[in-house]
Amino acid sequence: MVSFFCVLFTFFFLCTHVSSADTISADFTLSGDQTISSSGGTFKMGFFQPATSSNFYIGMWYQQLPQQTIVWVANRDKPVSDKKTSLLKISNGNLVLLDGNNQTPVWSTGLNSSSAHDAVLQDDGNLVLRDDSGSLLWQSFDHPGDTWLPGAKIRYDKRTKKSQRLTSWTSVEDPSPGLFSLELDESTAYKILWNGSTQYWSSGPWNPQSKLFDSVPEMRLNYIFNYSFFSNATESYFTYSIYNKANISRLVMDVSGQIRQSSWLNNNNQWNLFWSQPRQQCLVYSYCGSFGICSSKSQPFCQCPRGFRPKSQKDWDLKDYSAGCVRKTELQCSRGVVNQFLPLTNVKLPDNLEVWGITSFNTCGSACLGNCSCMAYAHDESSNRCLMWTKDVFNLQQFEEDYSEGNTLYLRLSASDMPSSSTSGKSNKAVIFGAVLGSLGAIALVLLAVIIMLRYCRRKRMRGEKSDGTL
Ligand SMILES: *[C@@H]1O[C@H](CO)[C@@H](O)[C@H](O)[C@H]1NC(C)=O
Ligand SMILES: *[C@@H]1O[C@H](CO)[C@@H](O)[C@H](O)[C@H]1NC(C)=O
Ligand SMILES: *[C@@H]1O[C@H](CO)[C@@H](O)[C@H](O)[C@H]1NC(C)=O
Ligand SMILES: *[C@@H]1O[C@H](CO)[C@@H](O)[C@H](O)[C@H]1NC(C)=O
Ligand SMILES: *[C@@H]1O[C@H](CO)[C@@H](O)[C@H](O)[C@H]1NC(C)=O
Ligand SMILES: *[C@@H]1O[C@H](CO)[C@@H](O)[C@H](O)[C@H]1NC(C)=O
Repeated sequence: MVSFFCVLFTFFFLCTHVSSADTISADFTLSGDQTISSSGGTFKMGFFQPATSSNFYIGMWYQQLPQQTIVWVANRDKPVSDKKTSLLKISNGNLVLLDGNNQTPVWSTGLNSSSAHDAVLQDDGNLVLRDDSGSLLWQSFDHPGDTWLPGAKIRYDKRTKKSQRLTSWTSVEDPSPGLFSLELDESTAYKILWNGSTQYWSSGPWNPQSKLFDSVPEMRLNYIFNYSFFSNATESYFTYSIYNKANISRLVMDVSGQIRQSSWLNNNNQWNLFWSQPRQQCLVYSYCGSFGICSSKSQPFCQCPRGFRPKSQKDWDLKDYSAGCVRKTELQCSRGVVNQFLPLTNVKLPDNLEVWGITSFNTCGSACLGNCSCMAYAHDESSNRCLMWTKDVFNLQQFEEDYSEGNTLYLRLSASDMPSSSTSGKSNKAVIFGAVLGSLGAIALVLLAVIIMLRYCRRKRMRGEKSDGTL
């Protein structure tokens, strides 16, 4: 009896041990459909394909959730085309992804003179590279992708003055680093940047008294997360954990340019958006790319002005608007081809402007028309300043009708792309008036002709009757 239990126990132990390997080692590599799972069964790692992409990546996702949610990608910008011939293994003291038949390395943990022994997927979603003695050499938490898992830290290094970055995917099917990133700065504030430099949101500095970020007062209402901020002479970071270990939650630097905290709802079997910043999509800097117009009233938020089309319809369909819009007909201004200006009314003016001078509206327009490097202009009525844009215009926002602070931006277009009805309101009315007058005149002429005809006929008939009578 005892021995039976022993056998059963050993069998069970062996089985679970084999099916739930959490370690990549000299004896265990990853290829094809093989995966590793964290010891508590929370995370899984292996090859995956994002959305409809034909590329393969090494990624990490929640094991129990019915929809695959990727939280970390190893080879973000270096996909492989065949998972069967690719191999993730410990090689020369690093964790390395080898591609295809010629086994070229496409991704590596990249440590110099490293002596890695194995890599363990932990239950918190951290992949840890260890040496013989079990001490840490490298961890995925130090190389975040777009997802900030509970327990991870996004640090600011006070010695190098550099921050770790959470970076959005390029699109839903391309995990390579996109234009939006979240990082911590010297002032203990997290900020969201566009293209690594233009800041469009800040959490405000950490307030040690109230234990929240100054511009995120809603943190006060929290009862789910345990927030903490750490700072010493060498580094500072914020981190969070979840009081109830059964809850699943993650913060993502999303392709929309917003940071989004979502929690998994078991009842609905889906992610529930819990909190996001900036709240309005159009406050994400240059969300619609060059010449794209962001409007909170339109669906999708990004539109191209008349005479423009999405630069890449494929990316546009994947909700990646960053490439923006291009003119349907290229300008051939320097060759003397006639251009005109399309007025965009009630918009937020793009910021990369140049003040050309103090002029009247008309002088401003003709100055822009006369200089082929002028892409757009606007005239500020109150100061009589003539504003010009000589590069692509970014961050165009359409204000709503009830908002009166907007300006009119005049975009240079090839004359053939000008919507014919918007040339000038006045002349339009004149044309319509003329047309109406013209048709009225024609009707009058026809009536006159009919009357003359009738009279002529009647007279003729009367004459005929007379002659009949005489006959
Ligand atoms: C490894 O060494 C190379 C060349 O010596 C150096 O450029 C690189 O920064 C080093 N990498 C790390 C992670 O230390
Ligand atoms: C982002 O910045 C880099 C230089 O830092 C520049 O070459 C690139 O054109 C920028 N991207 C966009 C979309 O403006
Ligand atoms: C909250 O987090 C801090 C720092 O990570 C930790 O010391 C503390 O024990 C946590 N509190 C609870 C109630 O989990
Ligand atoms: C700051 O804290 C980190 C651990 O988070 C530690 O490694 C480092 O030595 C500390 N620096 C100082 C100056 O105490
Ligand atoms: C957290 O878990 C508890 C118990 O499982 C559940 O009732 C609650 O709805 C969860 N909260 C969130 C935000 O997921
Ligand atoms: C056109 O405008 C640009 C930018 O304002 C200026 O540098 C350039 O000299 C102008 N060219 C002419 C011919 O006025």
